[in-house]
Amino acid sequence: MRLKDKVAIVTGSGAGIGRATAKLFAHEGAKVICADIDDSKANEIAEEIAKDGRKAKSLKLDVTDEKEISKVLPHIIESEVKIDILVNNAGITVTGSVEDLTTKEWDRQMDTNLRSIYLMSNKIWKHFKNNNGGIILNTASIASKIGIANDAAYCASKAGVEMLTRCMAKDGASHKIRVNCICPGFVETPNIQGYFDAQPDPQAAREFAISLHPIGRMGRPDDIAKGFVFLASDDAEWITGSSLVIDGGLLTALP
Ligand SMILES: NC(=O)c1ccc[n+]([C@@H]2O[C@H](COP(=O)([O-])OP(=O)(O)OC[C@H]3O[C@@H](n4cnc5c(N)ncnc54)[C@H](O)[C@@H]3O)[C@@H](O)[C@H]2O)c1
Repeated sequence: MRLKDKVAIVTGSGAGIGRATAKLFAHEGAKVICADIDDSKANEIAEEIAKDGRKAKSLKLDVTDEKEISKVLPHIIESEVKIDILVNNAGITVTGSVEDLTTKEWDRQMDTNLRSIYLMSNKIWKHFKNNNGGIILNTASIASKIGIANDAAYCASKAGVEMLTRCMAKDGASHKIRVNCICPGFVETPNIQGYFDAQPDPQAAREFAISLHPIGRMGRPDDIAKGFVFLASDDAEWITGSSLVIDGGLLTALP
């Protein structure tokens, strides 16, 4: 068990990558605080983990809401005594070019994918410092590294996640706070299905996405969860400020 007796908060754990990460962390011995804006989904995954004989708690949390975070996080810290790992995973995709995006859509994208990571990390930082360290893991994207048509705000938000990861890693190093991110390719989740459904021909969009991955398939949520377990474990004790690309080879083979 690589995360035995650790306590981890995983945001966006109600579906997709967050859900798989919460389950795998619990399987590796961690107690997982399953945080999601959707109460029922957070409860569902926490119950599923508990039924498996592992430890989990559900938490209704909107990562864009500073007041809510400021209220809820101290309670969690107090009741758990020590938090070891924060996975900032919650995210959404707001498609559109700069010409098409409204200011409201731009702000919603940035608030959910980027500002949220600042907020959560800002509110847990002192706890990590006082406890001689902690681990922050962020979900970035291959969109941190390449520009995608009609995805201006999403790509900008994810490039921001990657840079914020590096900056936090530098600031945290002397306090034993390690900060890393994962850059997934296309992963089979409700979010990506929503992205395909928004395209003029969803089936063609799906097939095109698959064709971008030299390994010949899209990712599974577990492919990313395994990366998070590695980065959260002592096997990664000398890794900070890095971006782990898990993309079935996509970035090696762009047309
Ligand atoms: N699926 C992919 O192909 C892919 C690729 C690269 C990066 N990502 C990133 O991975 C992360 C997870 O994506 P996914 O595909 O698993 O998404 P998903 O939509 O399947 O699941 C996301 C979860 O986050 C929750 N959530 C949304 N807004 C929230 C908020 N404000 N506060 C708390 N919870 C909130 C949702 O309720 C949902 O349960 C996101 O950051 C996404 O940008 C996904």
